[in-house]
Amino acid sequence: MNRASDYIAVFDSGVGGISVLRHLKKAMPQERFLYFGDSANAPYGTKSRQEIRELTLAAAESLVDRGIKALVVACNTATAAAISDLRRAYPELIVVGIEPAVKVAAEQFPGGTVGVMATPATLQLEKLSHLMAAVCRGVQVVKLPAPGLVELIEEGRGESDQAEALLRPLLAPWAGKLDALVLGCTHYPFAADTIRQLVGRHTQLLDGGEGTARRTRQLLEEKGLLHTGPEEIVMENSLESPQVIDLCWKLLEV
Ligand code: DGL
Repeated sequence: MNRASDYIAVFDSGVGGISVLRHLKKAMPQERFLYFGDSANAPYGTKSRQEIRELTLAAAESLVDRGIKALVVACNTATAAAISDLRRAYPELIVVGIEPAVKVAAEQFPGGTVGVMATPATLQLEKLSHLMAAVCRGVQVVKLPAPGLVELIEEGRGESDQAEALLRPLLAPWAGKLDALVLGCTHYPFAADTIRQLVGRHTQLLDGGEGTARRTRQLLEEKGLLHTGPEEIVMENSLESPQVIDLCWKLLEV
């Protein structure tokens, strides 16, 4: 690893943030990324706000102490629970969070029906209700919590019979009825084929990864902090297991 101050840290509760790293890489092909997944503590989405906040602040502190140039919170749950605490703790640092892409969905389908799949915590916290109240007027929003899916994706089984069996009762009743389905958890793009098969091809799947990457690039550009060199990616995880690091590399190539 080179000097830590050259790196954009990308943080998630586990392997899900790799779906955001894919967009970050595309938006900034000459950057250095330090990916940290807290798989030892995943899932975050069924924990209390206080627990999510403590885990997020602890992970951020250890990354910031290494001297990173930006922090991307590639986790909707951690963003919903702790983004304002992070901004308060590190006012000088570029801190970018991710939110369910409900604004994009509402703009694309005014008067339509939009599903929002996210963790139980994201669906309960007021950040999402505020966002929906601000942007979803006239849109019918259906909240679809999917407990258990993150665990399967952490095991590399997002596209599997088990994922299909878990999601069928939740999604099959909505087959052909949703204009868009927001994947409001960064793990869920790794079950996109299974999800698409259940809701039908007519439903557009949307996630916040691309917007987050665009915003990160813009903030780095404004501060003159964009790196121009060979791309470098460092993968770290709180589970000291080579399998989880292998899974991260595999998901990055999906
Ligand atoms: N990947 C995280 C998100 O975007 C949550 C997964 C979890 O429950 O840990 O919400």
